[in-house]
Amino acid sequence: MSPLSLLPIGLGLALLPFLSFGPAPATTDAVAAFAVGAGDDALALDGPGRFIGAKACKNCHNGEDKGNIHDKWAASAHARAYATLGTPEAKKIAAGMGIDDPQKSEKCLECHVTAFGVDPKEIKKGFLIEDGVQCETCHGAGEEHFKVRFKESMQKDKPPSPIGENEVHAVRDPASCIRCHNERSPTHKEFCFKERMAEIEHLDPRRERTEEELAKLRETCTPDCPKCKREKEKKDGE
Ligand code: HEC
Ligand code: HEC
Ligand code: HEC
Ligand code: HEC
Repeated sequence: MSPLSLLPIGLGLALLPFLSFGPAPATTDAVAAFAVGAGDDALALDGPGRFIGAKACKNCHNGEDKGNIHDKWAASAHARAYATLGTPEAKKIAAGMGIDDPQKSEKCLECHVTAFGVDPKEIKKGFLIEDGVQCETCHGAGEEHFKVRFKESMQKDKPPSPIGENEVHAVRDPASCIRCHNERSPTHKEFCFKERMAEIEHLDPRRERTEEELAKLRETCTPDCPKCKREKEKKDGE
């Protein structure tokens, strides 16, 4: 039996911590203190709600029938991005740049955590920077979405309403990745959007898509992607 069949009972209880209001924990203050750099980009995706953290998405975006989105993310490099900054490899890179502790330096945190540079007031209790590059990095602050969908989940027989303007966004846009996957990263590797997106793709099977629609979606890449260019030249040369 999938744990999700318990959802109606589990939901209310599990969500309670997120419904209580309170000051942000010290760990988030440390990150939010740096109101510079990539923070501006993060804010571009920011709606009126606060950042609530990946755990708050799990109840509704996990389980076989929903595409196991939370667990796929949790097993990905993005979820480990903060932990990576504590490794000997990270410390070595940092030392070379005169940085003592990468887990405390804005020069590393800006791309290795979510909501970097955001005002602590915009970060809700329960959000953990330890969770690295989380859902809200790409989808925007989730509080408003959470509220709307939580309310709707109580009205069992109603189909979900369309995603509102102030909720989360889901756009397949290379620009949203390149703000971190670029030459400013000390370990930068060539970034082919098409290829890397395939590695983290997490579609919801409840959304019906034809093979054609899927293929079109998966064609998206940066116009100047060197890898795609090389592949095209190879193909054209044959
Ligand atoms: C109470 C349930 C619930 C919670 C909690 C929840 N979601 Fe959702 N989410 C939904 C539902 C339902 C839909 C789909 C609506 C539809 O398909 O029309 C959805 C859709 C989405 C979409 C697709 C949006 C689009 O424009 O296509 C994204 C992205 C998303 N959620 C991200 C998140 C993130 C990130 C979190 C945590 C911060 C989260 N959700 C928490 C219920 C929830
Ligand atoms: C906030 C910064 C940030 C954004 C935005 C971001 N990433 Fe990442 N990404 C990282 C970091 C940091 C890592 C490395 C994490 C680690 O290994 O600890 C990573 C790792 C990855 C990996 C694994 C690569 C490997 O060599 O293991 C893939 C694939 C990936 N990202 C794809 C994407 C895609 C696709 C997007 C856009 C839709 C994106 N990322 C957006 C920061 C980001
Ligand atoms: C501009 C964004 C950015 C900054 C700043 C940044 N990183 Fe990263 N980091 C990434 C991305 C993206 C990856 C994933 C590797 C890739 O595909 O480029 C990554 C991966 C890593 C990895 C894993 C090694 C690997 O090859 O996957 C380590 C270790 C690391 N970073 C350490 C650091 C340290 C230490 C700092 C600060 C001195 C730092 N990073 C600053 C974006 C950044
Ligand atoms: C590195 C960026 C990134 C992260 C991290 C990320 N997503 Fe996404 N997600 C995307 C992109 C890009 C799309 C749009 C994909 C597309 O066009 O099909 C997407 C699509 C979605 C959708 C819509 C799926 C569909 O079938 O249309 C949902 C729901 C969703 N994400 C939820 C989440 C949740 C929940 C998490 C965290 C547990 C998460 N995402 C983490 C980038 C990300």
